[in-house]
Amino acid sequence: MSAKIIDGKDIARRVRDEWRIRADKLKAAGVTPGLAVIMLGDNAASQVYVRNKVKACHDIGIFSDAHLLPATASQADVLKLIDRLNADPRIHGLLVQLPLPPQLDVHTVIERIALEKDVDGFSLYNVGGLVSGGTVFPPCTPYGVVCMLEYSNIPITGQNVVVVGASNIVGKPMALMLMQKEATVAICHVKTRDLAQFTILADILVVAAGKPGLITAPMVKTGAVVIDVGINRLPDGTLVGDVDFDAVKEKASYITPVPGGVGPMTVTMLLCNTIQSAERSAAKLGIKT
Ligand code: GUN
Repeated sequence: MSAKIIDGKDIARRVRDEWRIRADKLKAAGVTPGLAVIMLGDNAASQVYVRNKVKACHDIGIFSDAHLLPATASQADVLKLIDRLNADPRIHGLLVQLPLPPQLDVHTVIERIALEKDVDGFSLYNVGGLVSGGTVFPPCTPYGVVCMLEYSNIPITGQNVVVVGASNIVGKPMALMLMQKEATVAICHVKTRDLAQFTILADILVVAAGKPGLITAPMVKTGAVVIDVGINRLPDGTLVGDVDFDAVKEKASYITPVPGGVGPMTVTMLLCNTIQSAERSAAKLGIKT
């Protein structure tokens, strides 16, 4: 039996259609949601991500403000710009694209972003919220994965989930979000011995390791839901995930493709967080939407 393909593009379109209505209501009340993005240097992947974020804002009809700084920018310059955008009432979401050049301290930079504008959800306060169940902004990629599972009517409560990859951006918040939804969660990472003995137990397997071909069919339980967060460019230019898609789809019940799976969801959830931030800001000002 071949797995059902979870179509990230289609779900992203449906989520955006719902949130466009909320953005339109805000605009009708005189509040245009706005997202500011700061990028340093010319990292090729970051350039693509930032371009996609700006385009997504345009497509859903919200304001975007991209600041492209040289890789040599000082920490003081970056903090000054963050302070200015924190104080700018047109901006409801503010993010600094990672990775940063080595002269910048990532924690200092992230902690400078106003909590109510941290739409990436990377600040310590937001991470603490994930741990205690009171998240302000869920981080976009794991938020997108949860959204895909929910739109596909895949139950999470009580399921055995294995997350492969323990990054701050995906693996750790993913595990916390699924634990909050009462899944039983194990996190595996580069130092895990015999990865297959964990993955084979997973009802839901989320892979975010950045290694093409890491997950092969014998590592997957028959009927598992397989979510591939990996995005890897092969030497021939092809984009692939971390999962051997063709073989694993014959064993799984649901699987996400790469491209067209989790990728389109990440930017979509960033738009959701930005619009939600604008709604909170409007409510604080007593503006009814
Ligand atoms: N670099 C890779 N993914 C992300 C992301 O989601 N947000 C930011 N700010 N940087 C990234």
